[in-house]
Order: sequence, then structure tokens, then C-alpha cells
Amino acid sequence: MKRDAPNFASITPRRTWAQLAFVLGAFAIGWGVGRAVEAQTQVKAGWLTESQGDKFEAIERHLRGLDMTMVEIGYRFTELNFAGLDRNWGYAQYQLDKIDLALRNGLERRPARAPSSQEFLNEALPRIRAIVDRQDRDGFEAGMERLRVSCMECHVLENTPHFTVQIPERRLAPIGNILDPRP
Ligand code: HEC
Repeated sequence: MKRDAPNFASITPRRTWAQLAFVLGAFAIGWGVGRAVEAQTQVKAGWLTESQGDKFEAIERHLRGLDMTMVEIGYRFTELNFAGLDRNWGYAQYQLDKIDLALRNGLERRPARAPSSQEFLNEALPRIRAIVDRQDRDGFEAGMERLRVSCMECHVLENTPHFTVQIPERRLAPIGNILDPRP
């Protein structure tokens, strides 16, 4: 027996188009709402929500000034000390490079502090660098003491003598020298 053909006649072409348009419209609205929610959550997830100019001010505020430079230099001074004692000269050179870079970047942010640091940058750092470059373990401790005094000279010039730099007793990072351990 022949089965009845589906009754397409009850759906007029006009109705089909209307339904199609409705479905597509619903999709479009759904997609748009989805995108809007996504965009909103993206803005909420970050912290740089200010307008373009204020964003840069916020970044400046968060990058801070010479205080963070000094926190970094304090750490690196300690690591430099143990690098030299360990005769880990590559590590010592690395720390010297980063002390130099950190201070120069810090002075870019706080140029008023630059005059007090000229002796440190131009005399003290090259002096200890020469000791490290020639791997002079015997001269290293005296070199660190001179560097420490040079740190303090800037602290005195900057009216912050209470930041009393000392030769550290304890290392701060788990970096040693297994190839050439300290005698
Ligand atoms: C510009 C000259 C200058 C030189 C060179 C300098 N300092 Fe400083 N240091 C400062 C100033 C200024 C402060 C106080 C920062 C502030 O008030 O924002 C400071 C603060 C510090 C602090 C305290 C940071 C904190 O916020 O806890 C440490 C640690 C420090 N210095 C270590 C050193 C060491 C180690 C050296 C040498 C390797 C050194 N500094 C060389 C100017 C200098």
C-alpha cells in the first residue's frame, strides 16, 4: 500500500521563510548577547579598566619608584656576595649586570636620585666587576666591602642612612656552585 506523502501543503512557502528568519534572528541575538557578556567579563577580569591615559598612570603607580629597585638590588647584592665566595663567577657576573640594569631603570623613573649614584655606577660597579672578571677570589671579599661602602655613600647622600647595608650572612636563593664548591 502506498504511504501517504507528508503534507507539505499545509506549510506555505511564506510561513517557511518567516520561521527561518525567526530562527536565524534568535541565533543572531543569542550570539550577540554571548559576545557582550564575554566582553564584559573580560573587562572585569583585568585591573587596567581606566581610560587610555589613566591606564598608563596606573601602570606607573604599580611599577613604583626606587624602593622596588632597592629591594631587587638588596637581593642581588646578597647573591653576588655568595656567588663570589663560591667562585661561581658566571652567576656573579649575572648579578652585577642586573644590579646595573635595575639601578639605571630605577633612575629613569626617579631622575632626581641620579647625581648621588654616579660614583656607584661609574666607579664602584666597574671595580667589583674587574675582580669578578679576573676571578680573583682572594680580592673578592675586600671588593665587596668597598661596594658596600659605596651603597652606603648614596644612602647618606639621599638622607636614608638608616638603610644600613651589611655584608650578608645568609644566601637568599638556592643557587650554589656544585662544580667548584667553597673550600
Ligand atoms: C641612588 C643611590 C643609591 C644607591 C647607589 C644605592 N641605594 Fe639603596 N636606597 C636608596 C634610596 C634613596 C633608598 C630609599 C628608597 C625610597 O625611599 O624609596 C634605598 C633603599 C634601600 C633598601 C631598602 C629597600 C626597601 O624598601 O626595603 C635596600 C635593601 C637598599 N637600598 C640596598 C642597597 C644596596 C645593597 C646598594 C648597593 C649595592 C644600594 N642600596 C645602593 C638609594 C641608593
